[in-house]
Amino acid sequence: MKVVKTIQEVRDYVVAWRKAGLSVGLVPTMGYLHEGHQSLIRKSVEQNDRTVVSVFVNPIQFGPNEDLEAYPRDLNRDMKAVEEAGGDLIFNPEPEEMYRGHFTSFIDTTETTELLCGAVRPVHFRGVCTVVGKLFNIVQPDRAYFGQKDAQQLATIRRFVRDLNFPVEIVPCPIVREADGLAKSSRNTYLNVEERKAALILSQSLKKGKSAIEQGERDAQRVIDIIRKNLETEPMARIDYVEVVDFENIQRVAEIKGETLVAIAVYIGKTRLIDNFIVDVK
Ligand code: PAF
Repeated sequence: MKVVKTIQEVRDYVVAWRKAGLSVGLVPTMGYLHEGHQSLIRKSVEQNDRTVVSVFVNPIQFGPNEDLEAYPRDLNRDMKAVEEAGGDLIFNPEPEEMYRGHFTSFIDTTETTELLCGAVRPVHFRGVCTVVGKLFNIVQPDRAYFGQKDAQQLATIRRFVRDLNFPVEIVPCPIVREADGLAKSSRNTYLNVEERKAALILSQSLKKGKSAIEQGERDAQRVIDIIRKNLETEPMARIDYVEVVDFENIQRVAEIKGETLVAIAVYIGKTRLIDNFIVDVK
């Protein structure tokens, strides 16, 4: 397993692999890898001859008052995690390598980014799509792997890949959870012991919403109410949003039918956590 810092080095590896007729998978990450990321790497290793993992805390997807500086970074830890999961190459550029000089070109999406996290993080998805588009151009993978935990990100990337004809297959991967249900996230490291306990309210509340749907509830507002009511039982939780949207366009629905995303964002102390589930109601 190798670590490279420059775009040219990644390209040299990929050109050699291509010459040898090998397929390439890409797992874009911001590092501080956990089992969720490792599940994406393992999937890529299963489906491709070579797997590139990018480790890059992308400055342009953070707003001015967000956690860019505090975001956890540990390349040695990431190297072990990638090695363990079977990845071949880490691309770990400095911001200056990715954004040279006067950078003025962006991938900007509409519709899928209007609600949920897009409504409260105005520059976020433009930054995500731009860096992911750049990574696609740098690595030119056959397939790229994204977790369903960031469901709006997944829907948005799928959309721009389709709209802009990027020749890459987007492979969605399920949420990986701790034994007690908390969705794995690099941001979980911000939680103290009390907050970690309180954070369980996210998955517990979603479970209640999901079981209502499984029992036949189709009214989106009633599912939102069930989830909100449960979240409100936790004094340390501050709701950012609870939304029910169609997974394709990320637009609100009144009735639950087809592929529907139920998504929440909740502050536990100063840490903003997201979680969701997707149902496909025929
Ligand atoms: O999901 C993430 O970690 C990031 O948004 C991504 C896709 C690596 C882009 O920086």
